[in-house]
Amino acid sequence: MDSSLLHILQEAQAAMSAATDPASLENIKAQFLGKSGKVTELLKGLGQMSVEEKKVKGKEINDLKVQVEAVLNARRDALAAQAMQSKLAAQAIDITKPGRQRGAGGLHPAMRTLERIEEIFTSVGFDLADGPEIETDFHNFTALNTPEDHPARSMHDTFYVEGGNLLRTHTSPMQVRYMQTHEPPIRIIAPGRVYRVDSDATHSPMFHQVEGLWIDQGVSFADLKAVFMDFLKKFFETDDLTIRFRPSFFPFTEPSAEIDMAFTSGPNKGKWLEIAGSGQVHPNVLRHVGIDPEKYTGFAFGVGPDRLTMLRYGINDLRLFYENDIRFLQQFN
Ligand code: PHE
Repeated sequence: MDSSLLHILQEAQAAMSAATDPASLENIKAQFLGKSGKVTELLKGLGQMSVEEKKVKGKEINDLKVQVEAVLNARRDALAAQAMQSKLAAQAIDITKPGRQRGAGGLHPAMRTLERIEEIFTSVGFDLADGPEIETDFHNFTALNTPEDHPARSMHDTFYVEGGNLLRTHTSPMQVRYMQTHEPPIRIIAPGRVYRVDSDATHSPMFHQVEGLWIDQGVSFADLKAVFMDFLKKFFETDDLTIRFRPSFFPFTEPSAEIDMAFTSGPNKGKWLEIAGSGQVHPNVLRHVGIDPEKYTGFAFGVGPDRLTMLRYGINDLRLFYENDIRFLQQFN
């Protein structure tokens, strides 16, 4: 090839390999192969040549054109491959990375405790009972030996709803409903939500209770103590518990006791926390539901499962259970 043609080829090679993107490569192509590109101009010049000259020069210029085109195509392919590479690198998915886990969720500590309590009592022969959260005054108070003018009504700050009904202030009305529909022997627990106008570190306007009731011939306060202590030992998985039965008053039990337990860990260590009310079912309550108190006796208790959860995990504020802070709840999964 003529040295001037060779020079053009080298020029094209240098310019094209310097092009770093398709657009500038196309510009360079125009400089050589476009309408007035260097190679095109040479081809145009053939017209002025003699036939002999044309034969030789024509072939040389054509070879040049073919070679410039080959350089162009090679560079085009290289740039396309480069573009594909960087696109792939940008979108890279590392399939060896561990996947993002979705939390499986878990039971709320309050539910966890309720289930545990149900398990323990049903394993020793107690049945489960249920009742409405919106109660009549009769079931919540009157049938439980707490008539209209009874001072004990002021122990419960009651939420009243339209029509004279109320949000049950305790699970005890379920005792009444069960005894109205079942004959002794009766052995039940009745868990549920209860409501009182009350809010501080150990009180929440909505909280849980589990009612227990055992009515049969000859069921005594000693049985209450035995059954309840047995439950606590199973619940806390230890015999080493600090418990006291403190004489108390409820209109629907006589004698009555509140059951306290001491914290063994956490910031409240050594402090007492009331966990249940209890007592021998009052004869008037049995009479209200048509059970003969001369023949049958029994005990009842109302335990606060949220308080048990506090003691079990050393939690000092009941309100944590109802704020649903995920950082608190996750600790129980
Ligand atoms: N219902 C009582 C309360 O909520 C607790 C209790 C239940 C007491 C059963 C005695 C017997 O305070």
